[in-house]
Amino acid sequence: MVRHLVAKTPWPYPADGAETHVRACLEKRARGEQFYWAITLKDGDDELIGRIDLRPDADVGAMRGFWLAQEYWGRGLMTEAADAVNAYAFEVLDWPFIEVATNSANRASQRIKEKQGFILLYMGVGEYVEGVRETAFWRLNQEAWRSRRGDAASR
Ligand SMILES: CC(C)(COP(=O)(O)OP(=O)(O)OC[C@H]1O[C@@H](n2cnc3c(N)ncnc32)[C@H](O)[C@@H]1OP(=O)(O)O)[C@@H](O)C(=O)NCCC(=O)NCCS
Repeated sequence: MVRHLVAKTPWPYPADGAETHVRACLEKRARGEQFYWAITLKDGDDELIGRIDLRPDADVGAMRGFWLAQEYWGRGLMTEAADAVNAYAFEVLDWPFIEVATNSANRASQRIKEKQGFILLYMGVGEYVEGVRETAFWRLNQEAWRSRRGDAASR
């Protein structure tokens, strides 16, 4: 679950990790620094099963981040969530682009970017919970996103 997350993710996870993290998320959101969405099942009981966020490009390559509880992997849920969050970035925030980075070993995360039309910019390195790893840096421009969406709507 955590090995592909950024190195600052506390691990082993402390007993107060979730509470501390959610509090920090709410504070950053209140200050308008970062945008967070809880992921819950449509027909579920509102239990948090994952999280996705957007942040301005102060931290290059890290404008969108996500994780999902392992038992829900492989159902297309994060693709659905990321589609909605991309639309928020481009339509509500009017961001010109989203740049993200992925550990090369994280095939599921890379596949989501590929499906959404992100273009591979360059290869570098990043620091993850599992260590320093080869990293792919990606970008999706608003214009390209709008054009793909138009294509999909007209089919
Ligand atoms: C990455 C993560 C969010 C994916 O969530 P998910 O809901 O399972 O993703 P989706 O089902 O929407 O899409 C995953 C895609 O990757 C593909 N995939 C999954 N594992 C794969 C693998 N080992 N090799 C190639 N493709 C793979 C799936 O088939 C799917 O593509 P498809 O729709 O073309 O079939 C989830 O695995 C996770 O939370 N991982 C731990 C945290 C993390 O890595 N966060 C991202 C940091 S950048």
